[in-house]
Amino acid sequence: MSAKALPRSEEQALADMKNYRRIMLKMSGEVLMGDKEYGLDPETVNRVAEDIREVVAQGIQVCVVVGAGNIFRGVSGAATGMDRTTADYMGMLGIVINALALQNALEHLGVQTRVQTAIRMDAICEPYIRRKAMRHMEKGRVVIFAAGTGNPYFTTDTAGALRASEMDCDAIFKGTKVDGVYSSDPEKDPAAEHYSHISYMDVLTKDLKVMDATAISLARENNIPIIIFSVKEKGRFAEVVRSEGKFTIVTN
Ligand code: GTP
Repeated sequence: MSAKALPRSEEQALADMKNYRRIMLKMSGEVLMGDKEYGLDPETVNRVAEDIREVVAQGIQVCVVVGAGNIFRGVSGAATGMDRTTADYMGMLGIVINALALQNALEHLGVQTRVQTAIRMDAICEPYIRRKAMRHMEKGRVVIFAAGTGNPYFTTDTAGALRASEMDCDAIFKGTKVDGVYSSDPEKDPAAEHYSHISYMDVLTKDLKVMDATAISLARENNIPIIIFSVKEKGRFAEVVRSEGKFTIVTN
Protein backbone atom coordinates (compact mmCIF):
# COMPACT_ATOMS: atom_id res chain seq x y z
CA MET A 1 0.00 0.00 0.00
CA SER A 2 2.81 2.40 0.81
CA ALA A 3 3.87 2.36 -2.85
CA LYS A 4 0.43 3.60 -3.89
CA ALA A 5 0.37 7.23 -4.99
CA LEU A 6 -1.30 9.64 -2.61
CA PRO A 7 -4.66 10.86 -3.90
CA ARG A 8 -4.11 14.50 -4.90
CA SER A 9 -7.68 15.64 -4.76
CA GLU A 10 -11.24 14.63 -4.10
CA GLU A 11 -11.61 14.00 -7.82
CA GLN A 12 -8.73 11.59 -7.82
CA ALA A 13 -9.89 9.88 -4.62
CA LEU A 14 -13.27 9.27 -6.28
CA ALA A 15 -11.64 8.07 -9.51
CA ASP A 16 -9.51 5.65 -7.45
CA MET A 17 -12.69 4.15 -5.99
CA LYS A 18 -13.51 2.64 -9.40
CA ASN A 19 -10.33 0.55 -9.16
CA TYR A 20 -10.92 -0.95 -5.72
CA ARG A 21 -10.41 -4.71 -5.79
CA ARG A 22 -10.34 -5.60 -2.09
CA ILE A 23 -12.18 -3.74 0.64
CA MET A 24 -12.94 -3.94 4.32
CA LEU A 25 -16.45 -3.39 5.65
CA LYS A 26 -16.33 -2.15 9.22
CA MET A 27 -19.63 -1.82 11.03
CA SER A 28 -20.73 -1.46 14.59
CA GLY A 29 -22.59 -4.31 16.23
CA GLU A 30 -25.51 -1.93 16.82
CA VAL A 31 -26.29 -2.08 13.10
CA LEU A 32 -27.22 -5.75 13.49
CA MET A 33 -29.80 -5.14 16.21
CA GLY A 34 -32.11 -3.19 13.86
CA ASP A 35 -34.76 -1.48 15.97
CA LYS A 36 -34.25 -3.75 18.96
CA GLU A 37 -32.66 -2.53 22.17
CA TYR A 38 -29.94 -5.14 22.02
CA GLY A 39 -29.15 -8.49 20.46
CA LEU A 40 -29.52 -9.57 16.85
CA ASP A 41 -32.42 -8.78 14.54
CA PRO A 42 -32.49 -11.65 11.99
CA GLU A 43 -34.12 -9.47 9.32
CA THR A 44 -31.41 -6.83 9.64
CA VAL A 45 -28.63 -9.42 9.65
CA ASN A 46 -30.09 -10.88 6.43
CA ARG A 47 -30.40 -7.45 4.86
CA VAL A 48 -26.74 -6.64 5.66
CA ALA A 49 -25.76 -10.05 4.23
CA GLU A 50 -27.69 -9.24 1.03
CA ASP A 51 -25.85 -5.93 0.80
CA ILE A 52 -22.52 -7.73 1.12
CA ARG A 53 -23.56 -10.30 -1.50
CA GLU A 54 -24.32 -7.48 -3.92
CA VAL A 55 -20.79 -6.11 -3.55
CA VAL A 56 -19.21 -9.57 -3.89
CA ALA A 57 -21.28 -10.02 -7.07
CA GLN A 58 -19.57 -6.90 -8.45
CA GLY A 59 -16.33 -8.90 -8.37
CA ILE A 60 -14.90 -7.18 -5.31
CA GLN A 61 -13.10 -9.05 -2.53
CA VAL A 62 -14.69 -8.26 0.81
CA CYS A 63 -13.58 -8.77 4.39
CA VAL A 64 -15.60 -7.70 7.40
CA VAL A 65 -14.94 -6.48 10.92
CA VAL A 66 -17.95 -6.06 13.16
CA GLY A 67 -18.28 -4.65 16.66
CA ALA A 68 -20.25 -6.03 19.61
CA GLY A 69 -22.23 -3.11 21.03
CA ASN A 70 -25.49 -4.99 20.40
CA ILE A 71 -24.42 -7.98 22.49
CA PHE A 72 -22.48 -6.06 25.07
CA ARG A 73 -25.29 -3.60 25.79
CA GLY A 74 -27.27 -6.50 27.10
CA VAL A 75 -24.60 -7.34 29.62
CA SER A 76 -23.24 -3.84 30.25
CA GLY A 77 -25.17 -3.64 33.51
CA ALA A 78 -23.24 -6.66 34.71
CA ALA A 79 -20.05 -5.11 33.34
CA THR A 80 -20.39 -1.99 35.49
CA GLY A 81 -17.50 -1.85 37.90
CA MET A 82 -15.74 -4.67 36.10
CA ASP A 83 -12.07 -4.55 35.14
CA ARG A 84 -11.58 -2.94 31.75
CA THR A 85 -9.66 -5.97 30.50
CA THR A 86 -12.40 -8.43 31.51
CA ALA A 87 -15.08 -6.23 29.96
CA ASP A 88 -13.03 -5.99 26.75
CA TYR A 89 -12.66 -9.78 26.55
CA MET A 90 -16.44 -10.09 26.95
CA GLY A 91 -16.78 -7.66 24.07
CA MET A 92 -14.48 -9.84 21.95
CA LEU A 93 -16.70 -12.85 22.62
CA GLY A 94 -19.67 -10.71 21.58
CA ILE A 95 -17.94 -10.06 18.26
CA VAL A 96 -17.63 -13.80 17.69
CA ILE A 97 -21.41 -14.13 18.15
CA ASN A 98 -22.01 -11.40 15.56
CA ALA A 99 -19.46 -12.90 13.16
CA LEU A 100 -21.16 -16.32 13.30
CA ALA A 101 -24.60 -14.75 12.75
CA LEU A 102 -23.31 -12.88 9.71
CA GLN A 103 -21.55 -15.98 8.39
CA ASN A 104 -24.76 -17.97 8.72
CA ALA A 105 -26.81 -15.32 6.91
CA LEU A 106 -24.25 -15.01 4.09
CA GLU A 107 -24.02 -18.76 3.57
CA HIS A 108 -27.82 -19.00 3.40
CA LEU A 109 -27.55 -16.60 0.48
CA GLY A 110 -24.93 -18.81 -1.19
CA VAL A 111 -21.97 -16.56 -0.36
CA GLN A 112 -18.90 -18.51 0.71
CA THR A 113 -17.38 -17.26 3.93
CA ARG A 114 -14.69 -18.00 6.45
CA VAL A 115 -14.60 -16.69 10.01
CA GLN A 116 -11.12 -16.14 11.46
CA THR A 117 -10.72 -15.20 15.08
CA ALA A 118 -7.93 -13.38 16.88
CA ILE A 119 -8.54 -15.52 19.98
CA ARG A 120 -8.27 -19.22 19.27
CA MET A 121 -11.45 -21.23 19.55
CA ASP A 122 -10.73 -23.99 17.06
CA ALA A 123 -13.99 -25.86 17.52
CA ILE A 124 -15.90 -22.79 16.32
CA CYS A 125 -13.80 -21.15 13.62
CA GLU A 126 -10.38 -20.81 12.07
CA PRO A 127 -7.63 -18.93 13.86
CA TYR A 128 -6.48 -15.71 12.24
CA ILE A 129 -3.77 -16.49 9.70
CA ARG A 130 -2.98 -13.59 7.42
CA ARG A 131 -1.91 -15.48 4.31
CA LYS A 132 -4.79 -17.90 4.59
CA ALA A 133 -7.25 -15.03 4.84
CA MET A 134 -5.74 -13.52 1.69
CA ARG A 135 -6.16 -16.83 -0.20
CA HIS A 136 -9.77 -17.11 0.96
CA MET A 137 -10.50 -13.67 -0.45
CA GLU A 138 -8.72 -14.43 -3.72
CA LYS A 139 -11.12 -17.38 -4.01
CA GLY A 140 -14.08 -15.02 -3.63
CA ARG A 141 -14.85 -15.90 -0.02
CA VAL A 142 -15.93 -13.22 2.41
CA VAL A 143 -13.59 -13.32 5.41
CA ILE A 144 -15.10 -12.17 8.69
CA PHE A 145 -12.50 -11.26 11.27
CA ALA A 146 -13.72 -11.94 14.80
CA ALA A 147 -12.57 -11.08 18.34
CA GLY A 148 -11.09 -7.71 17.36
CA THR A 149 -7.31 -7.59 17.66
CA GLY A 150 -7.45 -10.17 20.47
CA ASN A 151 -6.17 -7.55 22.90
CA PRO A 152 -7.99 -5.43 25.45
CA TYR A 153 -7.75 -1.63 25.13
CA PHE A 154 -8.14 -1.77 21.35
CA THR A 155 -11.43 -0.93 19.67
CA THR A 156 -13.02 -2.78 16.76
CA ASP A 157 -12.30 0.31 14.65
CA THR A 158 -8.62 -0.29 15.33
CA ALA A 159 -9.07 -3.98 14.51
CA GLY A 160 -10.67 -2.89 11.22
CA ALA A 161 -7.78 -0.58 10.35
CA LEU A 162 -5.23 -3.22 11.39
CA ARG A 163 -6.76 -6.05 9.36
CA ALA A 164 -7.34 -3.73 6.38
CA SER A 165 -3.63 -2.85 6.49
CA GLU A 166 -2.57 -6.49 6.81
CA MET A 167 -4.92 -7.57 4.03
CA ASP A 168 -3.71 -4.83 1.72
CA CYS A 169 -7.25 -3.53 1.37
CA ASP A 170 -7.83 -0.64 -1.03
CA ALA A 171 -10.23 1.04 1.41
CA ILE A 172 -12.19 0.75 4.63
CA PHE A 173 -15.94 1.20 4.24
CA LYS A 174 -17.24 2.26 7.59
CA GLY A 175 -20.98 1.59 7.75
CA THR A 176 -22.75 3.79 10.30
CA LYS A 177 -26.16 5.28 11.02
CA VAL A 178 -25.41 8.50 9.12
CA ASP A 179 -24.45 9.06 5.50
CA GLY A 180 -21.09 10.66 6.15
CA VAL A 181 -19.28 13.24 8.23
CA TYR A 182 -20.95 16.56 9.07
CA SER A 183 -19.65 19.80 10.55
CA SER A 184 -22.00 19.21 13.50
CA ASP A 185 -24.64 16.66 14.50
CA PRO A 186 -27.14 16.67 11.58
CA GLU A 187 -29.91 15.37 13.86
CA LYS A 188 -29.60 18.43 16.11
CA ASP A 189 -28.35 21.11 13.73
CA PRO A 190 -30.28 21.54 10.45
CA ALA A 191 -27.46 23.78 9.15
CA ALA A 192 -24.86 21.01 9.58
CA GLU A 193 -22.66 20.80 6.51
CA HIS A 194 -21.94 17.42 4.88
CA TYR A 195 -18.32 16.89 3.91
CA SER A 196 -17.80 14.88 0.74
CA HIS A 197 -14.02 14.71 1.29
CA ILE A 198 -11.84 15.41 4.33
CA SER A 199 -8.29 14.57 5.38
CA TYR A 200 -7.21 12.22 8.16
CA MET A 201 -5.61 15.27 9.78
CA ASP A 202 -8.95 17.15 9.81
CA VAL A 203 -10.62 14.15 11.42
CA LEU A 204 -7.96 14.09 14.13
CA THR A 205 -7.61 17.82 14.78
CA LYS A 206 -11.35 18.58 14.61
CA ASP A 207 -12.09 15.45 16.64
CA LEU A 208 -14.75 14.43 14.13
CA LYS A 209 -15.42 11.01 15.68
CA VAL A 210 -15.19 9.10 12.41
CA MET A 211 -13.17 6.36 14.07
CA ASP A 212 -10.92 6.47 17.12
CA ALA A 213 -7.52 8.14 16.77
CA THR A 214 -5.54 4.87 16.74
CA ALA A 215 -7.60 3.57 13.81
CA ILE A 216 -7.32 6.85 11.90
CA SER A 217 -3.55 6.99 12.43
CA LEU A 218 -3.13 3.42 11.22
CA ALA A 219 -5.22 4.07 8.09
CA ARG A 220 -3.29 7.28 7.46
CA GLU A 221 0.12 5.64 7.84
CA ASN A 222 -0.88 2.95 5.39
CA ASN A 223 -2.66 5.36 3.09
CA ILE A 224 -5.97 3.50 3.18
CA PRO A 225 -8.98 5.72 2.42
CA ILE A 226 -11.94 5.51 4.81
CA ILE A 227 -15.41 5.85 3.33
CA ILE A 228 -18.19 6.70 5.76
CA PHE A 229 -21.68 5.76 4.59
CA SER A 230 -25.08 4.78 5.93
CA VAL A 231 -25.37 1.03 6.23
CA LYS A 232 -28.99 1.38 7.33
CA GLU A 233 -30.32 1.71 3.79
CA LYS A 234 -30.65 -1.40 1.70
CA GLY A 235 -28.33 -1.52 -1.30
CA ARG A 236 -26.38 1.55 -0.23
CA PHE A 237 -23.13 -0.39 0.32
CA ALA A 238 -22.97 -1.52 -3.33
CA GLU A 239 -23.94 1.97 -4.48
CA VAL A 240 -21.17 3.61 -2.47
CA VAL A 241 -18.64 1.02 -3.67
CA ARG A 242 -19.57 2.19 -7.20
CA SER A 243 -18.86 5.71 -5.92
CA GLU A 244 -22.54 6.69 -6.15
CA GLY A 245 -24.84 8.28 -3.56
CA LYS A 246 -23.93 10.22 -0.44
CA PHE A 247 -20.82 9.44 1.61
CA THR A 248 -17.64 11.02 2.96
CA ILE A 249 -14.19 9.91 1.86
CA VAL A 250 -11.22 10.44 4.18
CA THR A 251 -7.79 10.50 2.54
CA ASN A 252 -4.39 12.13 2.94
P1 GTP B 1 -8.78 -24.15 0.75
O1 GTP B 1 -9.14 -25.59 0.61
O2 GTP B 1 -7.36 -23.91 1.08
O3 GTP B 1 -9.26 -23.34 -0.38
O4 GTP B 1 -9.55 -23.53 2.01
P2 GTP B 1 -10.62 -24.18 2.94
O5 GTP B 1 -10.93 -23.16 3.98
O6 GTP B 1 -11.81 -24.68 2.20
O7 GTP B 1 -9.83 -25.38 3.53
P3 GTP B 1 -9.79 -26.06 4.90
O8 GTP B 1 -9.67 -27.50 4.60
O9 GTP B 1 -8.74 -25.37 5.70
O10 GTP B 1 -11.19 -25.73 5.59
C1 GTP B 1 -12.35 -26.49 5.35
C2 GTP B 1 -13.42 -26.00 6.32
O11 GTP B 1 -12.96 -26.15 7.66
C3 GTP B 1 -13.77 -24.51 6.18
O12 GTP B 1 -15.16 -24.34 6.40
C4 GTP B 1 -12.98 -23.84 7.27
O13 GTP B 1 -13.59 -22.66 7.74
C5 GTP B 1 -12.98 -24.92 8.34
N1 GTP B 1 -11.79 -24.81 9.17
C6 GTP B 1 -10.50 -24.75 8.81
N2 GTP B 1 -9.69 -24.62 9.88
C7 GTP B 1 -10.49 -24.59 10.97
C8 GTP B 1 -10.28 -24.48 12.38
O14 GTP B 1 -9.16 -24.35 12.88
N3 GTP B 1 -11.38 -24.50 13.18
C9 GTP B 1 -12.63 -24.62 12.67
N4 GTP B 1 -13.65 -24.63 13.49
N5 GTP B 1 -12.88 -24.73 11.36
C10 GTP B 1 -11.83 -24.71 10.51
